[in-house]
Amino acid sequence: MQLDVLTLFPEWFEWFSTQRHVRNASRHGHEIRTFNPRDWTPLSGGQVDDTPFGGGAGMVLRVDVMDHALRGIYNQDPLDLLHERRVIALTPGGRMLDDALVDELAGEPAITLLCGRYEGFDERIVQHFASDAVSVGRYVLSGGELAAMVVMDAVLRKLPGALGHSESALEESFSQALGGDPEYPHYTRPAEYRGWKVPPVLLSGHHEEIATWRRARSQERGAVGPTAHPPDPESDARRPAGPDPFGPMSDAEPKSGPPTRGPDPFGPISG
Ligand code: 6GU
Repeated sequence: MQLDVLTLFPEWFEWFSTQRHVRNASRHGHEIRTFNPRDWTPLSGGQVDDTPFGGGAGMVLRVDVMDHALRGIYNQDPLDLLHERRVIALTPGGRMLDDALVDELAGEPAITLLCGRYEGFDERIVQHFASDAVSVGRYVLSGGELAAMVVMDAVLRKLPGALGHSESALEESFSQALGGDPEYPHYTRPAEYRGWKVPPVLLSGHHEEIATWRRARSQERGAVGPTAHPPDPESDARRPAGPDPFGPMSDAEPKSGPPTRGPDPFGPISG
């Protein structure tokens, strides 16, 4: 896969590109490239954005600058580029990124991510130069860069060779293998810590029982829906107060009560 990013802050991606799964993907022939639209701006002084028509705060990335940048990078009209590759505008109002979309993108030979800054893009960029508008959540980031990295991370780890074990990405949260449910809980050594025991079935060596147990836990989590705090198999009330190995909390630490969960203000996630 060729993954291109258009960003006014290409240096943000330098750290990202050094991460192991990203380097692994590169070794397997996948390619990440970053381009700065400023390098192609026809405007003087490296101008790329402008004040919004109709007034309001912030700056808007100009459509003519994006046209020049895409044309310069791909040597063709950006309108024709859409026949060849997915061009994704990262914008908070876009299609919500989920596992199905990540799978879809991981199957593409080439993707271009457009990062807006400040108040975002001139809408004509999204309308005419992008095949998709994608959002990573119902909140506003100050630019598309972090969202682009979220998309890249999620997509790259689906590609063969990015993870240590080829199965690692198969049976994880929200995957088809789990029927779209969240992942089952994981445990490792020690088998008991502060009185908190690992579910005995996981220590039993019975692969079928373990698989059944995991499927059930995964379905349980899926039925509960998104939670601010994962459900504790032992409720706080029943938790044996073992000695705190880190000693008492300092006074500077906020003494918060148990997490409370109000109704989801966004309502259920729609498909
Ligand atoms: Cl893709 N961009 C920005 N600026 N904010 C976001 C987002 C994208 N997704 C959620 N918030």
